[in-house]
Formats: sequence, structure tokens, C-alpha cells
Amino acid sequence: MSGPTFNFCGHDVTIHEELVDCGVGSTIWDASIILSRFMEQTELELEDKSVLELGAGTGLVSIVASLLGAKVTTTDCGETLPCARGNVPRNTELRSKHAPVVRRLEWGSADLDDFGPKQYDYIMGSDIIYKEETFADLYKTIMHLAGAETVLYLAGRIRFSVDEDFLDTLKQDFYLSCVYEDTVREVYIYRGEKLRNS
Ligand SMILES: C[S@@+](CC[C@H](N)C(=O)[O-])C[C@H]1O[C@@H](n2cnc3c(N)ncnc32)[C@H](O)[C@@H]1O
Repeated sequence: MSGPTFNFCGHDVTIHEELVDCGVGSTIWDASIILSRFMEQTELELEDKSVLELGAGTGLVSIVASLLGAKVTTTDCGETLPCARGNVPRNTELRSKHAPVVRRLEWGSADLDDFGPKQYDYIMGSDIIYKEETFADLYKTIMHLAGAETVLYLAGRIRFSVDEDFLDTLKQDFYLSCVYEDTVREVYIYRGEKLRNS
């Protein structure tokens, strides 16, 4: 195991990357670092708010949301989950107001009702728009979990036209705007809120 150390919210955060057998989520992606800095620097009001992270990978976004005082549910599919299961408690224990919960949520096959639909203040995801085969299930998952009051933050690199198509489809149900752009690393952060009749 190895991995980088960052400083967030006055704490050293060390992310162990599982370099074997844990899928693409086992290494840290730029978008998760950029979304984490965005949360910290824009002073997003996360204290006591419920946050669900989709496709958490190493869990950095969840860790920073937790350090900012949120009640965090960290999710990913089974093969990647051990990564977050290690990193999230290791970096939040004795630091966070609320202990984060790490759970399996596989887009398309999860029983979404287990996650209390419409109850989250925020749904977050970094670099989860990257594999076209998963788009329909990801969409269904977001639609099910997001309520009228939920704010969605998606960070990522838009690599292909299908990625843009996914965002365009999302605009049918969400008011979606780009709130941050890292032109060097070509990472964008989108903020979304469900349209009234969606
Ligand atoms: C490119 S990685 C990004 C990981 C992390 N969010 C980051 O930015 O460092 C994509 C993540 O989506 C997760 N993922 C892919 N397909 C999934 C599915 N069907 N259900 C749940 N998670 C999935 C992967 O396991 C992985 O953690």
C-alpha cells in the first residue's frame, strides 16, 4: 500500500492506494482532489448536512466532507469498497463530528430504497462520468436518490462526447451549472438541483 498525503481542514490526510485488484477507484483521481479543495475553500455549508458520495474510490471527497462536519455515507461497488473502508475511518476517527458510514452501492443493482431516497442534502461524485456502459444505471441512481432539496456536485474531466451527452441528459431533470473550472487539469465541477417537475 502506498499513497499521497494532503492537508485538508488543518489535518494531514493520507490516502492509501490499493494498486492491485481494486479497479479504477483504487487510485486517486485529480477530480477528487479538486472537488475536495473546492469544498474546503468555498466553505460549502456542510456542517450537520447529509452527504452521499457515489463511486468514492479512495474516499478523499468523503473524508473532506466529514472533516467539514457532514454526516457522510461513502459508497462504491464491491471490488473498490475496501479502499474506502480503510481510508475513510483512518482519516476521520477522532477528527470528525459524525463518523462516516461506508456502504456498498452498485449503480443498477443496489436496492436503492436501502439508501433512504430523497433524504440527502448533497450527492457528490468525482470522475464518475467515465464509462458509457454505466451511464443509464448511474442516471437512475442519481434520479432515485436526489430529492427536491438535494444539491448535486459532480466533478470530472469531460473526455468524450458521450460524457457531454450524459450532462445534457441530466439537464432534462436538473438545473445544472458549471461552478468551477481547472483549466490546467481540465477538470470541471457541476452543481445541480432537480427541476421542479422531475
Ligand atoms: C474513475 S474512478 C473515480 C474514483 C474517485 N471518485 C476519485 O475521483 O478518485 C470511478 C469510480 O466509480 C466506481 N464505479 C464504477 N462503476 C460503478 C458502479 N456500477 N457502481 C458503483 N460504483 C461504480 C468505481 O469503482 C470507481 O471508484
